[in-house]
Amino acid sequence: MAKIITFAQQKGGAGKTTTLVQLAVAWRDAGNSVALVDLDPQGSLARWAGMRDDLNCRTSSDWKASGDIRAAAREADFVLVDCPGNADILLRATIRDSDLVIAPCQPSIMDIWALDPVIDMATREKTQMRVVLNRVPPTGGAEAQARNAIETDLLNAALGNRVVFQQAFAQGRSASELQPRSKAATEVTALAEELTPLLR
Ligand SMILES: Nc1ncnc2c1ncn2[C@@H]1O[C@H](COP(=O)(O)OP(=O)(O)O)[C@@H](O)[C@H]1O
Ligand SMILES: [Mg+2]
Repeated sequence: MAKIITFAQQKGGAGKTTTLVQLAVAWRDAGNSVALVDLDPQGSLARWAGMRDDLNCRTSSDWKASGDIRAAAREADFVLVDCPGNADILLRATIRDSDLVIAPCQPSIMDIWALDPVIDMATREKTQMRVVLNRVPPTGGAEAQARNAIETDLLNAALGNRVVFQQAFAQGRSASELQPRSKAATEVTALAEELTPLLR
């Protein structure tokens, strides 16, 4: 059975799409087949996937979403689902069908508060969820403060605020493909390794 991993966080710009594409390439490079589903009407995941020919992405919405996710699950080991920034009925149904919810969160109190609706949904739907800190600044104590404030399952791995994530996205690539030896690539590897045991 394919594992369905949904990227959700109410706050727009939290890094859902960025984190998703990095993990998609990391898991594919680790030998898994990966399929993508873009539920965000902005369609940025689909545009990223459209720039490459090795990762199939379905765009979907509303009543079609659940069927499209299941169709993707028949084709791949991992199905990665990107969501828009709102927490509605569609997100609840998607979380119900998922094996794992990943919520990227920038280390600021507003982003941390914005986690609540997704935490609530994942708890009610009995789907495991992990928070990953994203765009962590190198200094200033923001990461430590955020780690104290977040009560839900928070991953040790985190992604820094790094230009290469943006540069790679714009080219339909991952940080590891653009700069294999970068800190960004190392962070993504650590993130994928921490998540993989949750998907067995
Ligand atoms: N770790 C990061 N380092 C640098 N820029 C980032 C990082 N994560 C996200 N961004 C940038 O922040 C913006 C929002 O990220 P995005 O992944 O689109 O968020 P979401 O999908 O949650 O709305 C994008 O311009 C993206 O390039
Ligand atoms: Mg997005």
